[in-house]
Amino acid sequence: MIDRLWTKRRTLMKIALTGMKPTGSPHLGNYIGMIQPALELAQSFRALYFVADYHALTVTPDPEALNRQSREIAATWLALGLDPAKAILFRQSDIPELFEFEWILACFTPKGILNRAHAYKAAVEKNTNENRYPDDGINAGLYSYPVLMAADILLFGAEVVPVGADQKQHIEMARDIATVINNRHADILTVPEPLIRDNHINFPGIDGRKMSKSYRNTIPIFASQQAIRKQVMQIKTDSKRPDDPKNPEECHVFGMFRHFAPPEAVTAWRERYINGGAAYSQIKAELADLLEAKFGKSRQRYEALLRDPEQINGVLTKGATTARSIANPILKKLRSCIGIDIAPSRLSSL
Ligand code: TRP
Repeated sequence: MIDRLWTKRRTLMKIALTGMKPTGSPHLGNYIGMIQPALELAQSFRALYFVADYHALTVTPDPEALNRQSREIAATWLALGLDPAKAILFRQSDIPELFEFEWILACFTPKGILNRAHAYKAAVEKNTNENRYPDDGINAGLYSYPVLMAADILLFGAEVVPVGADQKQHIEMARDIATVINNRHADILTVPEPLIRDNHINFPGIDGRKMSKSYRNTIPIFASQQAIRKQVMQIKTDSKRPDDPKNPEECHVFGMFRHFAPPEAVTAWRERYINGGAAYSQIKAELADLLEAKFGKSRQRYEALLRDPEQINGVLTKGATTARSIANPILKKLRSCIGIDIAPSRLSSL
C-alpha cells in the first residue's frame, strides 16, 4: 500500500530532466552550473537524468572512450548523491522510442532554426575563416543535434530542464518545436522551462576564461586530490603582493572559492582582498582543502562504482525501463495525432 501511494505521489510530481554528453570528465563548472542545481531539484521533482551518448556521437569519439565516458557520467551522478530509488538515471541509447519521436519532431522543425544553431554556425564560420567549404567536416548529426535534444525533453513531458547557460538556445528550440506541434495538434506536448543558474556564467577556469572543456582549462570533479591541488595552485593570478589591496571580483581564485566556502569565510576573504592581507597561495590552499572536503568521499564512491560496471549497468537498465514507461504514452499520443496507426505487433510496447 505504502508502495502504491509512493508511486502515485511520484507520478503526480512534476518532471525535471537533463542530459550530460559523455565527451570528457565532468568538471567544477558543470557541477556548479548544472549538477548541483539538478541534485537539488531531484528532492522535489521526479528527476529523469540521462547520459546523452548518442549526442556525443556527433563528434565521433573513439568507441572505447565513448563507452568509458558514458559509465563515468553515470558514476558521477551516483557518487554525488543521486538516489536511484527516487530518481531515474538512464542512458539515451537505451530508449528506442526517442529516435522515432525525433523523426516526427524533425518533420515539424523549420529548417531555418537549425541553420541558426550556435554550434552549427560556429562550425560553418570556422570553415569559412579557414577558406574551406562552409559545411566541410560537418555531419548531419551535428546539424540535427537540437532536434534530438528536443526529443529528449519532449518525449518525457519534462517541465523543468536544469542546464548550463550555453544550452539556452537548445531549450528555446525545444520550446519552439513543441509550440509548432501544439498549434497544430491541440496542446499535446509540455512546453519545458529552462533552469539556468546565472551565477555560474562567471565560473572561471584555471586560465581565468570561463571553465570549459573546449578551453582545456577545467578542474575535473574527481581528479585525484594531488592533481586538484596542483591545478588550483596553477590558477592564474596577477602579481599583486599579499598586502596590496585587490578587487576580489577580478580574482579567479576568489571566483571559485566563493562557490565552495561557507558565507562567513567568503566575507572574511572579501574584506582581506579589499583591505590588503590576502595571499594568493593561502586562499588557493584553502580552496584545495574545501574541494577535498566536498568531493573526497564522493571520489571514493566514484572509483568504487567504476570498478563495478555491473552495478552501473543495473541502475541504467532499470532507469531505462521506467523512462520508457513514461515515454510510451506520449509517443503513442503523438503518433495517433499525426495519423500513424500502431501496428498490432507493437501494441504491447506502446
Ligand atoms: N546538449 C547538452 C549539453 O551539451 C546535453 C543534452 C542532451 C541535454 N540532451 C539534453 C541537456 C536534454 C538537457 C536536456 O550539455
